[in-house]
Amino acid sequence: MSVLQQIEGLKKEALGELENTGDAGQLEAWRVRHLGKKSRLNEVLRSLSSLPVEDRKTVGGAANRLKAELEESLANREEVLGKQHTASARVEQLDITLPGCRPPIGRLHPVTRVIGEMSRIFTSMGFQVVEGPEVEWDYYNFEALNIPKEHPARDTMATLWVDYENEKGERPMLMRTHTSPMQVRVMENAEPPLRVVVPGKVYRYEAIDATHIPMFHQIEGFAIDTNITMADLKGTLYEFAHRFFGRDRKARFRCDYFPFVEPGVEMSIECAVCKGSGCRLCGNSGWIEILGAGMIHPRVLERVNIDPQKFSGFAFGMGIERIPMLRYGIDDIRLFYGSDLRFLRQF
Ligand code: DAH
Repeated sequence: MSVLQQIEGLKKEALGELENTGDAGQLEAWRVRHLGKKSRLNEVLRSLSSLPVEDRKTVGGAANRLKAELEESLANREEVLGKQHTASARVEQLDITLPGCRPPIGRLHPVTRVIGEMSRIFTSMGFQVVEGPEVEWDYYNFEALNIPKEHPARDTMATLWVDYENEKGERPMLMRTHTSPMQVRVMENAEPPLRVVVPGKVYRYEAIDATHIPMFHQIEGFAIDTNITMADLKGTLYEFAHRFFGRDRKARFRCDYFPFVEPGVEMSIECAVCKGSGCRLCGNSGWIEILGAGMIHPRVLERVNIDPQKFSGFAFGMGIERIPMLRYGIDDIRLFYGSDLRFLRQF
């Protein structure tokens, strides 16, 4: 067997054995056997000088290449075994009997929940739920609701105007101050009979305090048909109040004014805290106002080409945040939008 064949044999043997090493001790034994002073490879290297000159170069080259290859293979094997070792150590450290960490589970925001609850009550009474734009035109938010340019009712809704000017130099774009503009949008696009509720965000230019924020929610509702009367309005809203607040909570109507209804009313429910006897929350009256409503003004119907001689309708609008505030005794509206999970998780 030539020396070159011997070297080839050593290589096969060494690499084969290396595959079977399993820990640092075996690796060291392998290193001594195949790369150590007394290894056969070392013998070959040492005996180079006794070879005929013409063979020295080829044999020396092959032996040195093998040495380098074995050293590299050793380093690779060390790395592989090291990784396996730490991985198995990690498995050993995992105590599967320990209780796991519960992933935090999200939930719907209290305002979203109330909107869902209210929408379900109204849909069960035959109402459809629709949504509308939060950026609105003056026309829908005011004009078409019988609130012309110089009407004092505009002052009661501090408006956030959008910085947009049309060709006529007017600034007719705004953040809707209530959900009522959707009455007009729906009436423009659908024929009576209509029964619709519209939940959504509304915006007012308010200084922020415990009861005012510049964005809050309302739910609007209206029904238009032949022969709709005040009795339908009262029946629908009494039913809503009883289903939402409980059968034993009293509700009452009183006259109120809104430019887009005639007659207009407000509805109050018995104070949950004092049950009607009077306390701080209800300002000693025993009642808490929850919504505005009324019979849709004939001028509003005419504008969208619904004949007020033939059709009539009722409408109502209710602030949403107030409702969980009253229900759970929350005294600061800002809590809803502070993203404090300790507060939000309670609902
Ligand atoms: N849009 C009124 C507001 O924001 C609430 C309201 C009152 C809505 C009477 C109505 C209504 O539909 O009939 O204050």
